[in-house]
Amino acid sequence: MLVDALYQRLIRPLLFRLDPETAHEIAAGLGRHVLTAPGAAAALRRAFEYSSPRLEQTLGGVNFPNPVGLAAGFDKTGALYEFVSQLGFGFVESGTFTARAQPGNPRPRLFRYPQYQALVNRMGFNNPGAELAREILTGVRRSIPLGINIGKSKVTELKDATQDYLLSLDQLYEFADYIAVNVSSPNTPGLRNLQTRAALRELVGPLCDRIQNLAATRREKPKPLFLKLAPDLQDDELDEAAAEAPACGAAGLILCNTTIDRTRTPEATESGGLSGAPLRERCLAILRRVRAQCGPDLTLIGVGGIFSGTDAVEAIAAGADLIQVYTGFIYEGPGLPHRLNAAIDAELERRGVTLSEWRAQRDARK
Ligand code: FNR
Repeated sequence: MLVDALYQRLIRPLLFRLDPETAHEIAAGLGRHVLTAPGAAAALRRAFEYSSPRLEQTLGGVNFPNPVGLAAGFDKTGALYEFVSQLGFGFVESGTFTARAQPGNPRPRLFRYPQYQALVNRMGFNNPGAELAREILTGVRRSIPLGINIGKSKVTELKDATQDYLLSLDQLYEFADYIAVNVSSPNTPGLRNLQTRAALRELVGPLCDRIQNLAATRREKPKPLFLKLAPDLQDDELDEAAAEAPACGAAGLILCNTTIDRTRTPEATESGGLSGAPLRERCLAILRRVRAQCGPDLTLIGVGGIFSGTDAVEAIAAGADLIQVYTGFIYEGPGLPHRLNAAIDAELERRGVTLSEWRAQRDARK
């Protein structure tokens, strides 16, 4: 695609000269501005979309036009959804949102490590808070599924976490196609302790109960809840969390968040969560392990280090039903969703199956 060459030769070198968060703000601001021009949304969609019936799936009652999503953290306010949903994605996950508005950590808090094709962030859930997010999301025109990712407010003590998540859920449920529950960011002190079996029972159970109630009030089917886990869990902790989440009513897992491990990235000295290429192997191993353990019914969203069509196909072969990108999108540019979809579609054509059929074959062998 022309846009890939343009991004890699011209736009990325310019953006990469800027501080990473400033670059994000400029690119996002430009995108939102472009969208205000008449016909711009349709033109963007035509340029970036990849449409193939083979890629369509219904998971947890949600219709995904393609399996490539934008991971949480790119659209932290909901205000970018309309722009990014024109770029060929099959779904967008906005947030993390917290019950209270938060400024996040002091800047600089986002760092590039091109030698590793990685980023480190310690943003700290900067977001407008659930109440203001409601206002932003009310004005948004919807085209593809929207995941609402919720987390714990920094000021809320860990013992009160469930109440805090419930507040965000109540405020934002109506805008979601699915709810993502983030217990795995390394940048909110103590948050990752919520991944133990006992803590998950106290958190995921009540959230799923509340979803049942909200759905009954709205006379709708309950929306699925996906739990997002960290790649730094030991295998036994991972097994425990992967077993507990569906037992509490979760429909799936998002595997995975950023890592605090720097074993293979010693030059990434800033503190925070590392994302991008160094996560790839660990995420694939986690997908394989969890898929083998949980069988075909649990929806798995694979995220971490997906930069190419080969990476996307490998993640699905390993057990993912859907995939997400963030760091790859920064390094590879806005043509990435199209490229990933084209590669998955080519693999499906080679196999003579739809994505749903491929998944069924994959899981039957396990
Ligand atoms: C993230 N990620 C993230 N995840 C989440 O659940 N809530 C969040 O607010 C954020 N914020 C965030 C900010 C930045 C700058 C980055 C780079 C990442 C994690 C993200 O959704 C994803 O799980 C990881 O980045 C791994 O995928 P990639 O980046 O390797 O494709």
